[in-house]
Amino acid sequence: MKKTALILAGICLIIAGMSCSVKENTGPDKAIYEKVDSIMSLMTLEEKAGQMLNLGLAALLEGPFFTFRDTLIFDTAKVNSLLVKHGAGSVQNLGTYPLTPEEWRYYIGYIQNVVKGQTRLKIPVLYGIDAVHGANYTAGSVLTPHQINIAASFDTSLARIAGEITAYEMKASAIPWNYSPNLDVARNPLWGRIYETFGEDTYVTTMMGKSMIEGMMGNDPAAYDKVIASAKHFIGYGAMVTGKDRSFVMMPEHYIRQILLPPFEEAIKSGLLSIMVSSSSLNGTPSHIDHYFLTKVLKEELGFKGVVITDWGDIDNLVNNHRVAKNEREAVKMSVLAGIDICMEPYDASFSEHLIDLVKSGEVPQSRVDDAVRRILYVKYKSGIFDDMLFEKHSYDKFASKEFDSLSLQAARESITLLKNANNILPLAKNKKVLVTGVAGNSINYLNNGWSRTWAGEDTAYNDKQKHTILQAIKAEIGSQNVKFVQGTGYTNEINIDEAVNNARQADIIIACVGEKPATEVPSNIEDLELPDAQIKLVEKLAATGKPVILVMTQGRPRIIRKIEPLVQAVVMAYVPGNEGGIAISDIIFGNANPSGKLPYTYPRYSGSIIMYDHQRENDFGFMAYRPQYEFGYGLSYTTFEYGDIKLDSDSVKSGNTINCSIDVKNTGKLAGKEAVLLFVTDEYASVCPVVKQLKRFTKIYLEPGETKTVTFKLELKDLMFVSSNNKRVYEPGSFKISIGNKEAGFYLYE
Ligand code: GLC
Repeated sequence: MKKTALILAGICLIIAGMSCSVKENTGPDKAIYEKVDSIMSLMTLEEKAGQMLNLGLAALLEGPFFTFRDTLIFDTAKVNSLLVKHGAGSVQNLGTYPLTPEEWRYYIGYIQNVVKGQTRLKIPVLYGIDAVHGANYTAGSVLTPHQINIAASFDTSLARIAGEITAYEMKASAIPWNYSPNLDVARNPLWGRIYETFGEDTYVTTMMGKSMIEGMMGNDPAAYDKVIASAKHFIGYGAMVTGKDRSFVMMPEHYIRQILLPPFEEAIKSGLLSIMVSSSSLNGTPSHIDHYFLTKVLKEELGFKGVVITDWGDIDNLVNNHRVAKNEREAVKMSVLAGIDICMEPYDASFSEHLIDLVKSGEVPQSRVDDAVRRILYVKYKSGIFDDMLFEKHSYDKFASKEFDSLSLQAARESITLLKNANNILPLAKNKKVLVTGVAGNSINYLNNGWSRTWAGEDTAYNDKQKHTILQAIKAEIGSQNVKFVQGTGYTNEINIDEAVNNARQADIIIACVGEKPATEVPSNIEDLELPDAQIKLVEKLAATGKPVILVMTQGRPRIIRKIEPLVQAVVMAYVPGNEGGIAISDIIFGNANPSGKLPYTYPRYSGSIIMYDHQRENDFGFMAYRPQYEFGYGLSYTTFEYGDIKLDSDSVKSGNTINCSIDVKNTGKLAGKEAVLLFVTDEYASVCPVVKQLKRFTKIYLEPGETKTVTFKLELKDLMFVSSNNKRVYEPGSFKISIGNKEAGFYLYE
């Protein structure tokens, strides 16, 4: 009897392993799965393959896919072929330029009406978009700071708020599916997409990602102001060896599990329903055909019930770039068998044609397609589009409201990180003559970077005219008569450095706004982490005037500033602060806001010494390689904070117990301020080389001058565990160290 049961269980496991289908017809989603199954019972193979196809909006429009359009006109022949005949299940992103909420409603409404009127089963299309810092492809929407700023704020409530604003303004535009947040742990500072991430740390990414997803999805992603979040890019995308976008990742599985997987694990626990796959290869296997990670780990082990979508054109890339498939048909087969549910094949329907053929020839089992479609329809139900295709029952009065703008401003202010403030030169008095200079000084685009109205974010035509550049914000703050602007340089070229220098001589203070030109993905690749020469030269020449220089940086990556850092009196890191960034920067410079951001990544001093904060000790050995310009978690305030001693409720804990750590933090300065309190754990000895320290908790507190608050953190056994080389999470008894601020305490973990 027992034996039979075991054999049966074994067979079930094997079958489940092959298709890894979502089987639950019980539980809270029972009713949804019943509806899904009843639709599926009516569907043909062709209709199922169509559901698995995700088109670009441009594929439905007149003109070539990549072309500039000043009007979007549907091409009836394309619509009939792709939406009606092939029954594409989802459509995504832009025609070329950002649409107003009304225009989005019109265009998505057109698509939904075609599906409603001309297809047999009338399954609504799931519209997806990259709303990565606000609903950035809706004209006039609130452009919040990018994720790197949210991370620098060390305040998870701001991640939640950013998620809420984004979801609200997406839904105002009738868009229910967001290709965000980015949960890549960014392990290479050369990477151009760091600003789209929460930085280099696993725990920050995990906690910020969780909050942002909760903000986007709430308890019910079908709600009028919530959306389906799609975390990306699974897995390894931000840990490439070369620093170039979409390049290979080499990492043993236990480090993948230790460093890269936790944000996704936590997001799935928070109800995540969609995941986008990494365009890179991992240990020689392109992620799009990685059955182990997509099916075994993600769907089986982590129990992910949602959809797995490819990144842009990545099935084709298996042929063209990765070269693991000789033709597209083979690539479709490999990726669908690996666990892909939706193919982002923006241009045409060749994916579904191949898939139909593969199922008919028996090369892809029908059960795999059924599993994918079941997931897709489940997510479509969860998104609410079956009930209300356009979310028309609500008005969206808060779209682009003052309330949202001020939350975005708050997030920007709380993220900006003061890295140097010699002799407390900042905040500046408001009666000084100021020269604003630098490529980022009078640019909205440099404040917003990529994914801002357009993909690259470079086009100035769609900027919101009422928003303030740094220059405009400073003029508004201290009066135009006190402010002069000379740009000095472009991103890499000199323009009028001498003129800037001449004007510097007349000014009391120079505000040099350097930064990175807007870009994302492959166009954001760079050859050199140093700030471009022209910008370095500008700062050197300005400093040579003897006038004090405030260096303001609007950049995603930590561009190396070793040569100019000693020449300037203050360094203000603004990252990519969004549409309110100009005001936020001015507020920090002139003391309307007290800086409280801290670095969410290590800021290197040399491009040849790229070492994360959580490195193994051998990196320190002998040649002092770990000597960053600024450490992870570094950031100054206009007030001062003093940390008391760390109090632990025990100096030895048993494996089942928790340990409480508390510390008093006092504001010892003259201004009210916020302090991000970061708790790191060091495992003194372990069977896998332990890292110097790892962030395990953080919180942000507000303190009036003279005020003291006690911060208490509770650590659990899982915080002391690590992934061993056999890929299992383990703990090992021994000594641990806790550090908070400049204080340390130790304890012993017993079996
Ligand atoms: C891209 C990006 C991905 C984005 C997708 C859709 O190539 O890598 O992050 O979500 O296209 O625009």
